[in-house]
Amino acid sequence: VNHLLGIRGLQRQDIELIFQTADQFKEVLQRPIKKVPSLRDTTIVNLFFENSTRTRISFELAEKRLGADVVNFSASGSSVSKGETLIDTVNNILSMKVDMVVMRHSASGAPHFLSRHIDVPIVNAGDGINEHPTQALLDAFSIREKLGSLAGKKVAICGDIMHSRVALSNIYCLKELGAEVTVVGPPTLIPKHMETALGVNVSYDIRETLAWCDVANVLRIQLERQNTPLFSSLREYSLAYGVNRKLLDSLQKEVVIMHPGPINRGVELDSDVADSGHSIILNQVENGVAVRMAVLYLLSGKKSGKLVE
Ligand code: CP
Repeated sequence: VNHLLGIRGLQRQDIELIFQTADQFKEVLQRPIKKVPSLRDTTIVNLFFENSTRTRISFELAEKRLGADVVNFSASGSSVSKGETLIDTVNNILSMKVDMVVMRHSASGAPHFLSRHIDVPIVNAGDGINEHPTQALLDAFSIREKLGSLAGKKVAICGDIMHSRVALSNIYCLKELGAEVTVVGPPTLIPKHMETALGVNVSYDIRETLAWCDVANVLRIQLERQNTPLFSSLREYSLAYGVNRKLLDSLQKEVVIMHPGPINRGVELDSDVADSGHSIILNQVENGVAVRMAVLYLLSGKKSGKLVE
């Protein structure tokens, strides 16, 4: 069984196949009837053990645009609150003849654990502080759409690197596609040894990094994953590392601005940057549907026949 548990381990040609497939689905999504019947005999369950707006809606739309039957599960309101285990929950759902699982969980490795116990494809929709592979794919797809290719592009990943599954998946994806990556943020929010472990540059100077990069992917401070705050206050964080118009104007160049959402407006990113013509934040969200259609379609094993009718 094929799964998408993370970007780590994917080869450049795997990612390019996903992008080429997503290109075709993006074209479908521009049509008056935005649907294809590629997965009309497939039932997919979206298992969300952690909150989500974009990823959850994007997967559901992707599944419906592919003609799949969709079942949504949230841990809140389910029998998980009565103590039912993850494996029991999933096996009970699968016994109702479900063909694929999309899963978000607050525990790093939860989808990997599940993949050893079930025999249908699993797509990781974000596991703890580990990976968020479809986010990285849609981010790289959006850079490719804006700048033509990833090879040789300079991408800064800014802010709370320590708690970010988006950062880790982006690093794997961008490096595999030939981009140069710098992570920038306070020393307390950047894990040690990132240069040697992951082959990225590390900077603690946001201005210097913005002056260097073509693209800045600005991350949310994940207070919910910090037992003790790793900086003094949100206001001080914003003053030291917030991306704002004044800072960008001082560089006398433009930078493509990205954010995976949800944005803490006025903390890591100001509204006049998030909503500017240089921001591709809503393009990222739009592209997420086509990219997830491609992932689901390719994992379904239904590659024979025409992709798009
Ligand atoms: N980007 C992202 O994962 O957003 P959600 O948490 O709203 O799904």
